Amino acid sequence: MSEPVIGQADLGAVHRLLHEVFPESDKFATDAFLRWFYAENPDGSAAWRDALVGTESRAHYGAIPQWYHSRAGRMLLYLSVNSATHASLRRKGMFTRLGEAVYADIRSGEPAAAGVVGVPNWDAHEPRVKRLGWQIMGPLPVLVSLGAVFGRTSARHAEAGEALSGSSPLIDDGMLLPSQGWRQRWTLAKLAWRVRNPLQRYWVHRLDDVAALVTTTKVGGIPVALVAKTFRTPCGDTKSLSSLVSDIRRVHRTPVVAYVGFHRGLRLPGFDLPLRLRPSPLYLGWRLFDTEGPRPELSIDCFEALDFDVF
Ligand SMILES: CC(C)(COP(=O)(O)OP(=O)(O)OC[C@H]1O[C@@H](n2cnc3c(N)ncnc32)[C@H](O)[C@@H]1OP(=O)(O)O)[C@@H](O)C(=O)NCCC(=O)NCCS
Repeated sequence: MSEPVIGQADLGAVHRLLHEVFPESDKFATDAFLRWFYAENPDGSAAWRDALVGTESRAHYGAIPQWYHSRAGRMLLYLSVNSATHASLRRKGMFTRLGEAVYADIRSGEPAAAGVVGVPNWDAHEPRVKRLGWQIMGPLPVLVSLGAVFGRTSARHAEAGEALSGSSPLIDDGMLLPSQGWRQRWTLAKLAWRVRNPLQRYWVHRLDDVAALVTTTKVGGIPVALVAKTFRTPCGDTKSLSSLVSDIRRVHRTPVVAYVGFHRGLRLPGFDLPLRLRPSPLYLGWRLFDTEGPRPELSIDCFEALDFDVF
């Protein structure tokens, strides 16, 4: 095989490589998911680099722009996604070279990226720390809540497309305001893009001061409702999602509700799934690029499934 060169493959070649490396995922069977995820994001289009042999990709590293905000201001981070090296090229430094090429690109972009954030699995977390200067915060919590599928609450729900548009959306502007810590800056328009994911359906559930964006999946053949994003009104103490989760269970007719991540100021029911029971634990990490001015502290206070590329 001729020596690969670093360049940018077209999305057809990227989906073929990713489908080969992740055959169990239906995201890469065609290029539809990538076209939506890389090209239609309201925060900007993705940056990516490939190890090219001819026009085929043998290794890939992608990053999608995400504005973060806090009461201290805004910063542009890129979510690191879809890192994959073909089995025949592993441990030859490809991941490292592609990551460095993507970082050089986004650091010199307009606006320039302040850093990268992501959720590598065990295989990818070592190279990121060792070669790409990341710090790892730790494994992302996975909460599982079990309960009965009947019972009634006064919660409202609607399919997400409908719930986010129209004259009275189920998520208020106040729920999208910045808070003390850093978190991804969601807008109704950006949520509307995110729920157009060609492979998932989403619903919004709302009860009093809290709301949740929910999708469904199967784990080992068992239907699971996944709370992909949570919202709360800005004022007051910690709020509980227990009643809303009961409603989610009833509407989606499943005793199992799962949640990945954390949201300070919200209490979710359930137990944290032990690491040994998770097929591939995900580790939240980031790297802030060096700047001339003072570097902001990256204390993230909300990071959930919708903030990364799972669902
Ligand atoms: C993770 C992956 C992208 C790494 O790609 P790669 O091109 O082989 O990585 P590099 O050659 O640049 O590795 C750089 C360093 O990372 C470390 N490293 C790489 N793979 C590792 C692994 N599986 N376990 C532990 N350390 C690893 C090594 O220290 C390596 O340096 P060394 O060879 O000098 O010891 C590749 O193994 C892969 O595609 N895995 C399957 C898909 C996957 O899990 N992707 C991540 C999704 S989050």
